[in-house]
Amino acid sequence: MRTVGDLRTLRAVVRAWRQEGLRVGFVATMGNLHAGHFSLIELARKQADRVVTSIFVNPTQFGPNEDFARYPRTLAEDSLGLVEHNCDLLFAPSVEVMYPHGHDHAVTLHVPEVGDTLEGAHRPGHFDGVATVVAKLFAMVAPDVAVFGQKDWQQLLVVRRLAQELAFPLEIVAGPIVREDDGLAMSSRNRYLDAHQRARAPELHATLEWMRESFAEGHARAAVEGAATRRLERAGFRPDYAVLRRATDLAVPAGGECTGLMALVAARLGETRLIDNLAFD
Ligand code: PAJ
Repeated sequence: MRTVGDLRTLRAVVRAWRQEGLRVGFVATMGNLHAGHFSLIELARKQADRVVTSIFVNPTQFGPNEDFARYPRTLAEDSLGLVEHNCDLLFAPSVEVMYPHGHDHAVTLHVPEVGDTLEGAHRPGHFDGVATVVAKLFAMVAPDVAVFGQKDWQQLLVVRRLAQELAFPLEIVAGPIVREDDGLAMSSRNRYLDAHQRARAPELHATLEWMRESFAEGHARAAVEGAATRRLERAGFRPDYAVLRRATDLAVPAGGECTGLMALVAARLGETRLIDNLAFD
């Protein structure tokens, strides 16, 4: 596997592949790679002849009081994992390469509607940072196919809208959520949890499953959401939201609408903020 940090080399390598007629797959990450990330790399492998992975802890998607400074940076370990999973090229740029005018002076994208609700409302500016860095990465890597995880369902919708509206000539493929045996969705942030919090964390996924059952039994959306919020609070979480939404656009479903729905939760355990979701169909 080759590791590059500069644009000129990245472009030369990808251009050479293209000239050979090879299809290029791409997985964007912030590193501290786990089985969830590796599943996306394997999926990209199935969709393409060459796989590029980026590792960049993107400052513009973190709020001022969020965990940018302490976000786990484990490049050496990540590289070994990428080699094991047959990644062809690791793009690990510096902040200067990604934001040549400084990240406070960057051209910034905003994805309305689907980017404004839920995570967008609770983490102001977060999706502007995501949309901006993903658009830059698409322009830099120029892949034929990009793979994103359903773990960040709203991010996936934001990226789809962005790619469509800015007419990036690429296909977006979604990879299923990879979970620990006890149901906890894998996340780089799980490592912040102490043993006590880690033991409680699977309650997030259990609550999503409970929401699905409860709605299927005929309980009203608002009642399910209220009960799920209380259930999380009793388990020691501080929920930001526990909601049922239409999966395709995160709109509040109309009364009687019962297909294509999804439950989404975001909650804090101590200082650690976790998100998860579950499709109902
Ligand atoms: P990061 O959190 O590192 O996630 C990178 C990709 O891995 C995302 O598409 C995410 O949805 C996926 N992923 C994370 N955990 C997963 C799991 N348990 N199962 C399946 N997929 C999982 O998301 C980001 O980075 C950033 O916002 C980024 C898109 C790189 C822009 O900076």
